[in-house]
Amino acid sequence: MRATAVANANLALVKYWGKRDEGLILPQHGSISLTLEGLETRTLVAFDPSLEEDDIRLGGRRVGSPRRVQGLLHIVRAMAGTDCRARVESENGFPTAAGLASSASAFAALALAASRAAGLELEGAALSRLARQGSGSACRSVYGGFVEWLPGSLPDGSDSFSVPLAPQDHWDLPVLIVLVRSGAKEVPSSEGMRRSVETSPFYPVWRQQAEKDLNLLRQAIAERDLHLLGRVAEENAMRMHAVAMAASPPVLYWSPGTLRVLEKVRALRREGLHAYASMDAGPHVHVLTSRDCAAALEAELAALPEVSEVLVSGPGPAARLLGAE
Ligand code: DP6
Repeated sequence: MRATAVANANLALVKYWGKRDEGLILPQHGSISLTLEGLETRTLVAFDPSLEEDDIRLGGRRVGSPRRVQGLLHIVRAMAGTDCRARVESENGFPTAAGLASSASAFAALALAASRAAGLELEGAALSRLARQGSGSACRSVYGGFVEWLPGSLPDGSDSFSVPLAPQDHWDLPVLIVLVRSGAKEVPSSEGMRRSVETSPFYPVWRQQAEKDLNLLRQAIAERDLHLLGRVAEENAMRMHAVAMAASPPVLYWSPGTLRVLEKVRALRREGLHAYASMDAGPHVHVLTSRDCAAALEAELAALPEVSEVLVSGPGPAARLLGAE
């Protein structure tokens, strides 16, 4: 009746940006990510017949109406044939990373803990499909290392889940997570995507280009080609932001610090360091690099006044169970 699971965040190298079905969370196109070491969410789920409603706590605080968490619990209840309510306790183990929320690690951990607590033994594609229905990017955090989300084409979403491309130890690829100071309130990624699909004139081109980027990125991963991987990931991220900026009303995730870091990454690259940038739906910058350049890059980026902290990560593990009873 109870289980605890841990899952890691992931960085999309070819981004998921746009849904074809909002309810089932089905994407317009495929995406590829790297599961990130050290950025973890730990979640306990306990089904308890004495509860009248779900009791959901994030970081010790009770959450009012977490629609998506409850939605996922309802799916698990329906699969297990129970109507028992649940207690959910979730903690982010991200070092001090203010503003680095991850729905990917949260919903991957929730899917694993909730399904086990309900007596279901979901693994692989089935677990990925469940996590997807909490948050799209979560379906990739089910696996470690490099992961591809197959978009599928069926209306019921049964063929939309992730598959592993290469394990955690395939490539020692350091990722610096550069946290920039920013006061701006962000547009949630689901809203940014919706606006992009519905109003951005660049959306059709973005979708076509995603297919090309997926092919190149698979090749870069197989050959451990940092130059190709970095170039594709950086260009894909820039295009995602361009699509969002061209929406109506425009969606702008960058702060002055984001541009400062981008400028620095380019300058360091000209000096011969390996450094490639990628930004998700927020102002922080992920920098992909090589082992021999990581320390110098970290020092250079941490010294920028717009940067509050640099976290050092790399390929991380699959979602895992800590205990179940
Ligand atoms: C920019 O997975 O948070 O990080 O499916 O609405 O929960 P929902 O969106 P979410 O979007 C992630 C967007 C992204 C790109 C990516 O992770 O692929």
